[in-house]
Amino acid sequence: MTTARWLRPTRPGQSPRLEYGADYNPEQWPREVWDEDIRAMREAGVTVVSLAIFSWARLEPTEGRYDWSWLDEIIELLHAGGIAVDLATATASPPPWLTTKHPEILPVDREGRTIWPGGRQQWRPTSPIFRRYALGLVRAMAERYGHHPAVTAWHVSNELGCHNVYDFSDDAAAAFRTWLEKRYGTLDALNEAWGTSFWSQHYSDWAQILPPRLAATHPNPTQQLDFKRFSSDALREYLRAERDILHEITPDVPVTTNFMVMGETKAMDYAAWAEDVDFVSNDHYRLPGEQTLDELSFSANLTGNIAGGNPWFLMEHSTSAVNWQPVNLAKLPGELSRDALTHVAHGADAVCYFQWRQSRAGAEKYHSGMLPHAGTDSAVFRSVAELGETLKRLAPLQGTGRTPARVAILFDWDSWWASEQDSHPTDRLRYKQEALDWYSALLKLGVRADVVPAAADLSGYGLVVAPILHVVPQQLRERLDAYVSGGGHLVATYFSGIVDQDDHVYLGGYPGALRDLLGIRIEEFAPLLDGETAPLSNGTVGTLWTDKIQVTGDAEVLATYKDGEPAITRRAVGTGSAAYVSTRLGPDGIAPVLGDLLEQAGIGSELPAGLRGKVELAVRGEYAFVVNRTAEPVELTGLEGEAVHGSAELLEPRGVTVLRRA
Ligand code: GAL
Repeated sequence: MTTARWLRPTRPGQSPRLEYGADYNPEQWPREVWDEDIRAMREAGVTVVSLAIFSWARLEPTEGRYDWSWLDEIIELLHAGGIAVDLATATASPPPWLTTKHPEILPVDREGRTIWPGGRQQWRPTSPIFRRYALGLVRAMAERYGHHPAVTAWHVSNELGCHNVYDFSDDAAAAFRTWLEKRYGTLDALNEAWGTSFWSQHYSDWAQILPPRLAATHPNPTQQLDFKRFSSDALREYLRAERDILHEITPDVPVTTNFMVMGETKAMDYAAWAEDVDFVSNDHYRLPGEQTLDELSFSANLTGNIAGGNPWFLMEHSTSAVNWQPVNLAKLPGELSRDALTHVAHGADAVCYFQWRQSRAGAEKYHSGMLPHAGTDSAVFRSVAELGETLKRLAPLQGTGRTPARVAILFDWDSWWASEQDSHPTDRLRYKQEALDWYSALLKLGVRADVVPAAADLSGYGLVVAPILHVVPQQLRERLDAYVSGGGHLVATYFSGIVDQDDHVYLGGYPGALRDLLGIRIEEFAPLLDGETAPLSNGTVGTLWTDKIQVTGDAEVLATYKDGEPAITRRAVGTGSAAYVSTRLGPDGIAPVLGDLLEQAGIGSELPAGLRGKVELAVRGEYAFVVNRTAEPVELTGLEGEAVHGSAELLEPRGVTVLRRA
């Protein structure tokens, strides 16, 4: 887990504050706009901007010749204006002179096609040539600016892996082999783990091993899983390479990089990456759909837990529309503030946007910013300035971590990667969706939960939910056994406990790793076709998956399918229990099942009955955030505390009230 470092103060005696700002791209604008920018930033309450993210081509216009003039000037202007700089290392996108001179740094997709320049992030994570040039720039940036008082943190690259995580080039092949040698030691061990007796895949030399490039049919599943692990690790290693130079030259400036804990972005195992940064930063964009707000809360929650309960930095989100969905909707009144404060509720101590001034040109000109095309005389800018005021009032929260909940949802990248691979009982399974459904159900019930990595300490939790915990290595199995025999209550879903870390099935009946704990045995999976449903005796309806469950021990059956066979089971283990849900119930179907399990675990809602489902409650020490999940006003009755933001009596539509409880 990350250590508890936070931003370096840029003024003597600086008091605690929540940071507010954006990516700032002054190089896209004529010089005269900069003064206006700083004036408007001050009006909006901006405290920090991320600078130079995509500036490599402007900072090093030709090989080895740096042009610092514009960056020198804007850093001075910002500093004079009291605005701190989260300085990017500027390596996110290589300049045309570099890709022209060294086209061998360009990534290659699984079909062998080159990813050409013209967009951004066209570099191979494992290219030694790219690394040499990029690290040269990092060193030059650190030497020139690392001791400038305006620099509050380093921002490594940008969204590492956003477009280039899966590279199938020869560089990737070489690095993959090195990674595999380290993991397995011998070819025999690799052959065993990959099950290469199958389809004549036995390797007799490391040089024969390739990334899972376009193949005649399903590539080896363990090779695919290891390639996912490797690709995440390769970028981590790159992150560490930049970080180490920054730490060497400027040990007092903390280093971060913006993660993408959001939506279906799954290629980077951020629970592991968190070890490599001084504080965690995240970018989050809401996707449309019924669970959009739940997903925002889920991601903020997971980010806070990945950060180990320490403050984290919301590096990017949007004031209004984005530009990269099929149809890009502007935010409704109240949403700008609600979205930002939901992140704060889950431990963010900085609220930043992409970007400060909406671009006139380029692919992101229709992406909202803090200062829109319409200028400061606009609803967006007024909401931005209002949020700046709110964050000033909430300054005392700085450093107050999230208060742990009594329920945990396990979130595990290995299981995400492995459960969604090809050649499975169904290709319709969605790992993140199942986890989100349980989170949504908890929100409906008004019960706080923590979304935690599988390695987290579970001992403080009364109930642990394990949605599609597909990969269960021996150690995790022992931890879950110990959790339940220590009095904990566990609930696992379909397709959990099926394979070990090599993606090998546990034999003797599913769900092998959890079979004894759950007291059930399954001989065959029974996934459902699209549109097929499985009504349960408790009135809920399953989709996607069912199992033919035999109860082997003392487990009780909580609900059955139409044919009377078990659908949901629960085995009491001392004062603890282990329950199993064999189908996809969705949030509405999960809620009653969870309600019973929570009751048995002795966990109730912290919200008065009338507010459950309508609001989300999140707690940071003595501060309670109450977020209106509806578009209607909500009367706040039965809550204690003095309102430090919003009203203690009435929650506006999409509004947030922050209460200080003695
Ligand atoms: C992020 C990226 C930003 C900007 C933003 C638009 O992925 O880091 O540079 O492109 O998305 O939503």
